[in-house]
Parts: sequence; C-alpha cells; structure tokens
Amino acid sequence: MNTVELAIFGAPPAFEEPLPVGQLYFPEWSAYEDAMRGIFERQYYTNQGPLTRQLEQALEARLGVRHAICVTNATIGLMMAADALGLRGKVITPAFSFIATSQSLTWAGLEPLFCDVDPLTHQLDPSRVEELLESNDVGAILAVNLWGDVCAHDRLLQLSERYGVPLYYDSAHAFGCSVQGRAVGNFGSLEVFSFHATKVLSAAEGGCVCTNDDQLAARLRNIRSSYGAGPAVHVRRTANGRMSEAQAAIALLSLDNFAKTLERNRDVFAAYRDTLAGLPGLRLIEPQAVSATNYQYVVCEIDTECFGLGRDELQAVLRAENVLARRYFYPGIHRCTPYDEYYPQVGERLPVTEALCAKVLQLPIGQSIDAAGARRIGEIVRTAQQQAANVRRNLGGLA
Ligand SMILES: Cc1ncc(COP(=O)(O)O)c(C=O)c1O
Repeated sequence: MNTVELAIFGAPPAFEEPLPVGQLYFPEWSAYEDAMRGIFERQYYTNQGPLTRQLEQALEARLGVRHAICVTNATIGLMMAADALGLRGKVITPAFSFIATSQSLTWAGLEPLFCDVDPLTHQLDPSRVEELLESNDVGAILAVNLWGDVCAHDRLLQLSERYGVPLYYDSAHAFGCSVQGRAVGNFGSLEVFSFHATKVLSAAEGGCVCTNDDQLAARLRNIRSSYGAGPAVHVRRTANGRMSEAQAAIALLSLDNFAKTLERNRDVFAAYRDTLAGLPGLRLIEPQAVSATNYQYVVCEIDTECFGLGRDELQAVLRAENVLARRYFYPGIHRCTPYDEYYPQVGERLPVTEALCAKVLQLPIGQSIDAAGARRIGEIVRTAQQQAANVRRNLGGLA
C-alpha cells in the first residue's frame, strides 16, 4: 500500500474539486431536458400529475408494496405518518439519527423518548426499547433503518405486538435494501423514504411513504393533499406534502439509473474495504441485517487511542485534501435544540449514542467518486495513521 504526501504538510490537495459524502445523482442533461419539455407540453406542474402517478406505480411494483405515496420530502412524510397513525404521547426513537426523525414527532405534538442504539450496527437496540416500554406509557416506536442496513425487525415487531404500540420506520437511508427477498418499504405499519439529492434514489428533494394498509394509505393521501385526492377519509388535520412533477421526473430518471448507481456504490465500497482493512483503530461499518444493501453511506468509527488521531483530527486531514468527510450524526439529536433544553440529562442513559457521536466519520460515496478515488482516500487515511504523531503536531492539538 502506498503512503502519500499529505496536504496538511504542504502537498497539493489530492482532489482538485471538493468531494461531498452524499450520492448526488445528476441525470444526463438531454434526458432532463426531455422530461422538463414533457411537463411544459402537458402544462401540468403538480397535484398528483402523470409523472408522480407513474413514479408511485413504479415504486409499488419494484417494492411489492400496496401503496407508495410520494411526498415533497421525508420530513413531511414522517410528520404525516405520525398523524395518520393517530399517535399520542411518547414515541420511542433513537437520538442517533438525523434531527428530522425527532422533529417530525415534535411537529406532530408528540414527545420523542430517546433510546440507545446497538454499538456494532448503530441501529435501535431492542433491549433498550423493551426497558423503555416497561417503564413508560408509550404511544409508538419510530425506528430508523440507518446506513443502508435495517433494525432487528423481528424483535421490534414482537415488542410492538406485546405492548400494543405501532411500529413504523424512518427508512431515509434504506431505499433499495431488502431482507431475504422482502424489500424495505414493507416492514412495520409504514416506512418513509427520503429522495433527497444525497440519497441513492434522488428527486432532488422528495420522499415516499409506503404501506400495505389501505386505511392508512387513504388517510395519508388526504393529509398530503388537503382532501384533494382520493375518497374523503376523515383525518384530524391536513398538510401540503404533494410531490411536484419536476421532482417526480428526476426520481424516474434516477430509478432508471438505479442498477448502475448500486454497481458504482458497490465498487467504491469494496475499494474502501480493501484499502482500510487492518488499519488499527478504524472500523468500517458493514451492513449486517440486510441481504441486499444500497451502500448509502461509508461509515467509519475512529478509536482515538488505537488510531493515534481523533475523529476530528482525521476529518481535518481529509478536508485539507478536499475530501468533505462529515461527522454524521454530530451532535446527537438529544444535544440539539430544543431537546437539549427539554431533556438536559438524557445523555446519561445513551452511552452508546454519546460514544458514536464522538467517533463516527462519513467518507464520500456516490456519483462524485469512483473506486480509484476511494483507494486514494484510503491511502490518505492510512498515511495519516502511520504519521499520527506528526499530523497531531501539525494540527496543533485539535481534539
Ligand atoms: C435518517 C433521516 N431521516 C430523515 C431525513 C429527512 O429527509 P428529507 O431531507 O427528505 O426531509 C434524513 C435526511 O438526511 C435522514 O438522514
């Protein structure tokens, strides 16, 4: 394995352009132009237009789910989900997630009850969920399928049935994953995908709520469109979560390209796996519970003592190379506004979350990078580890 000259020591950065961590799929310009021309010709911008309906049907067929309800973004999808499920009170959810997971509950007038996660997989820990169910009056479990992997669904389902509380999923990271032939999108009462530009399926902004429950789907459609579409099933309030035709057009192009996206992600991930293998103090998180992953993110844990540098120091080394490695999720949701004020002591019962927030680093994957780029980043990380003492001196003791 090569060592490389590091930019923090004065070498030119390894990459000329900044490399982001997200997927960032951009369609071919000509295909995008054709799709937009179609929208202009039909003079149809939004309100369950033909492209949105086509996307919903394509998603239902692909996932084998009865209802795919496309929305403006996953955050509004999660807010609509909480209302469509008729939830009240406390909802068990991880603090190790993107803040939208908990904010959806807060917007729906619910209280997030933060639960710790598994140290190996980073997914919600069913044993901790059970403890919270035992000691609290709980209205639901909102689990998060992280990093192109999934939670221990069977155990969560058992708990949801035993305690009589609905289980639903924020699957923002898990589009295209499956468990023994069953596509993600079919688990729990419903699942919400994000089609944000950084996700494997992109609508630039967008999302989708999937469910096999007809009643729930009818309520979701009424909430999404302020009673604008479908039979008027009673809901307690409505919103505007409609996906526009321009969003659907991009998502359809992204779906056409999906097999290629996965192939590229697989190659990039394999290149990281090769170059980072055996590096002391670095653990690459491999999806465990899925039979097929989407490699949505490349997630590493850095153990400061073993690696010789802290996560933030390694991030600084990479940023100097134009590699926009991210501390994702940092800080944990429980330390963000408004939860840090509501629950100032909650970190004490989230030791795994606290530890992960201090050591997790994301590396680039997606359209901006290929396998050769991933190998180059692996070599930078390896060199930084080998020259840890000098790197630390140069960075001036960044924690
Ligand atoms: C776990 C998780 N949930 C929810 C969201 C929100 O998705 P959106 O940006 O589509 O609202 C994200 C976005 O990154 C996410 O990572």
